Amino acid sequence: MKIQEIRHPLIRHKLGLMRRADISTKNFRELAQEVAALLTYEATKDMPVEPQTINGWCGEVSVEKLAGKKITVVPILRAGLGMLDGVLSLIPSAKVSVIGMVRNEQTLEADTYLEKLVSELHQRRALIIDPMLATGSSMIATIDLLKRAGAQEIRALVLVAAPEGILRVNAAHPDVEIFTASVDERLNEHGYIIPGLGDAGDKIFGTR
Ligand code: URA
Repeated sequence: MKIQEIRHPLIRHKLGLMRRADISTKNFRELAQEVAALLTYEATKDMPVEPQTINGWCGEVSVEKLAGKKITVVPILRAGLGMLDGVLSLIPSAKVSVIGMVRNEQTLEADTYLEKLVSELHQRRALIIDPMLATGSSMIATIDLLKRAGAQEIRALVLVAAPEGILRVNAAHPDVEIFTASVDERLNEHGYIIPGLGDAGDKIFGTR
């Protein structure tokens, strides 16, 4: 299985706070960005670096800098925006490709309504962000779309994942690694993750 559940104490604590029914929009929003940053740290651990000689305060000094593919962050609208600043806090120069997906409440499948991708996707590592990996439909549709546009190296960061969604994404795209703060129990009959976080988009935007 290409899934990494990051069981860091800070992530576990913050996710526990996010699960409270009475959490405020402000707190949920802040925690989503913080957990996103911690997941970013894990998902970029194997990024290559190369040596560089610079002028330091005491003369020449050998340092390291990131090498290889640049990153594009891919928030899936609208809830994915709730993780964007967290990712960009660690990778401030990343370009952002935006995908708009809406869930068809009858079929629970994803329809694309916006696709605004950065150039040269084949030269970038794509980091898809979406708080909830539920049925997996919007994640699979986004990966399909990115691959059609040339992306070759794709990872996904999600706050909470349902086993059903993980299985579907793994089956459709076995090359894509998923990083999550928690693999939860299951989906309910409405496609919500149990115990999950509720509607993450509503909680981030205050529309509940
Ligand atoms: N989207 C959400 O916001 N929450 C879920 O539990 C499932 C999909």
